[in-house]
Amino acid sequence: MSIRATAEPHASVSLMALVRVGPPAALPPGSMLQVDTDCGVYTVCNIDGELHAVDGICPHRGGPLAHGALHGTTIVCPWHAWEFDCRSGEYDLDPAIRLKKHSVTIKDGIIFVDLP
Ligand code: FES
Repeated sequence: MSIRATAEPHASVSLMALVRVGPPAALPPGSMLQVDTDCGVYTVCNIDGELHAVDGICPHRGGPLAHGALHGTTIVCPWHAWEFDCRSGEYDLDPAIRLKKHSVTIKDGIIFVDLP
Protein backbone atom coordinates (compact mmCIF):
# COMPACT_ATOMS: atom_id res chain seq x y z
CA MET A 1 0.00 0.00 0.00
CA SER A 2 1.22 3.53 -0.72
CA ILE A 3 0.16 6.90 0.54
CA ARG A 4 1.09 10.37 -0.64
CA ALA A 5 2.15 12.61 2.23
CA THR A 6 3.13 16.23 2.59
CA ALA A 7 5.91 17.19 4.96
CA GLU A 8 5.30 20.08 7.29
CA PRO A 9 8.17 21.74 9.16
CA HIS A 10 8.41 21.32 12.92
CA ALA A 11 7.71 24.48 14.80
CA SER A 12 10.81 24.04 16.95
CA VAL A 13 13.25 22.06 14.77
CA SER A 14 13.90 23.77 11.49
CA LEU A 15 15.86 20.93 9.84
CA MET A 16 13.25 18.23 10.37
CA ALA A 17 9.75 17.76 9.03
CA LEU A 18 6.89 15.71 10.38
CA VAL A 19 5.21 13.67 7.69
CA ARG A 20 1.69 12.50 8.39
CA VAL A 21 1.31 8.80 7.64
CA GLY A 22 -2.23 8.19 8.85
CA PRO A 23 -4.13 6.53 11.68
CA PRO A 24 -2.67 3.38 13.30
CA ALA A 25 -5.53 1.37 11.80
CA ALA A 26 -3.94 1.95 8.38
CA LEU A 27 -0.87 0.04 9.52
CA PRO A 28 -1.84 -3.07 11.50
CA PRO A 29 0.81 -5.33 13.11
CA GLY A 30 2.73 -7.32 10.51
CA SER A 31 2.18 -4.79 7.74
CA MET A 32 4.15 -2.05 6.06
CA LEU A 33 3.33 0.79 3.75
CA GLN A 34 5.10 3.15 1.41
CA VAL A 35 5.04 6.87 2.10
CA ASP A 36 5.79 9.12 -0.89
CA THR A 37 6.82 12.70 -0.23
CA ASP A 38 8.40 15.48 -2.25
CA CYS A 39 11.72 14.64 -0.55
CA GLY A 40 11.72 10.88 -1.02
CA VAL A 41 10.10 7.50 -0.53
CA TYR A 42 9.94 5.79 2.86
CA THR A 43 8.75 2.48 4.29
CA VAL A 44 6.93 2.33 7.61
CA CYS A 45 6.56 -1.09 9.31
CA ASN A 46 4.49 -2.27 12.23
CA ILE A 47 6.26 -5.06 14.14
CA ASP A 48 3.94 -6.31 16.87
CA GLY A 49 2.76 -2.77 17.54
CA GLU A 50 6.23 -1.21 17.36
CA LEU A 51 6.57 1.22 14.46
CA HIS A 52 9.74 1.64 12.41
CA ALA A 53 10.55 3.79 9.39
CA VAL A 54 13.39 3.37 6.93
CA ASP A 55 14.20 4.65 3.48
CA GLY A 56 11.82 3.10 0.98
CA ILE A 57 14.04 2.53 -2.05
CA CYS A 58 16.30 -0.52 -2.21
CA PRO A 59 20.01 0.36 -2.46
CA HIS A 60 20.57 -2.56 -4.85
CA ARG A 61 18.69 -1.34 -7.91
CA GLY A 62 15.90 0.85 -6.65
CA GLY A 63 13.12 -1.58 -5.84
CA PRO A 64 10.11 -0.24 -3.88
CA LEU A 65 10.65 -1.99 -0.55
CA ALA A 66 7.14 -1.52 0.85
CA HIS A 67 5.80 -3.45 -2.15
CA GLY A 68 7.82 -6.48 -1.08
CA ALA A 69 7.14 -8.83 1.83
CA LEU A 70 7.49 -8.33 5.57
CA HIS A 71 8.62 -11.53 7.31
CA GLY A 72 8.87 -10.89 11.03
CA THR A 73 11.27 -7.95 11.23
CA THR A 74 12.64 -8.50 7.71
CA ILE A 75 11.69 -6.48 4.66
CA VAL A 76 12.17 -8.50 1.48
CA CYS A 77 12.69 -6.39 -1.64
CA PRO A 78 10.19 -7.34 -4.35
CA TRP A 79 12.71 -7.14 -7.19
CA HIS A 80 15.66 -9.40 -6.23
CA ALA A 81 14.83 -10.41 -2.64
CA TRP A 82 17.53 -8.51 -0.76
CA GLU A 83 16.56 -8.54 2.92
CA PHE A 84 16.74 -5.69 5.42
CA ASP A 85 15.97 -5.56 9.12
CA CYS A 86 13.34 -2.87 9.48
CA ARG A 87 14.51 -2.09 13.05
CA SER A 88 18.12 -1.30 12.11
CA GLY A 89 17.93 -0.89 8.33
CA GLU A 90 20.76 -3.42 7.91
CA TYR A 91 21.07 -5.57 4.80
CA ASP A 92 21.36 -9.14 6.09
CA LEU A 93 24.42 -10.16 4.04
CA ASP A 94 26.43 -6.98 4.60
CA PRO A 95 25.57 -4.79 7.60
CA ALA A 96 27.69 -2.02 6.06
CA ILE A 97 24.81 -1.57 3.61
CA ARG A 98 21.87 -0.16 5.45
CA LEU A 99 18.70 1.79 4.94
CA LYS A 100 18.57 5.08 6.80
CA LYS A 101 16.25 4.97 9.82
CA HIS A 102 13.72 7.64 10.71
CA SER A 103 11.87 8.33 13.94
CA VAL A 104 8.19 7.48 14.15
CA THR A 105 5.74 9.01 16.60
CA ILE A 106 2.02 8.86 17.23
CA LYS A 107 0.52 12.23 18.02
CA ASP A 108 -3.19 12.84 18.54
CA GLY A 109 -3.96 9.41 17.11
CA ILE A 110 -1.97 9.92 13.90
CA ILE A 111 1.33 8.29 12.87
CA PHE A 112 4.08 10.74 11.87
CA VAL A 113 7.59 10.15 10.55
CA ASP A 114 10.41 12.61 11.20
CA LEU A 115 12.33 13.33 8.04
CA PRO A 116 15.41 15.44 7.41
S1 FES B 1 16.35 -3.80 -6.28
FE1 FES B 1 16.07 -4.61 -4.30
S2 FES B 1 17.07 -6.50 -4.33
FE2 FES B 1 17.45 -5.65 -6.30
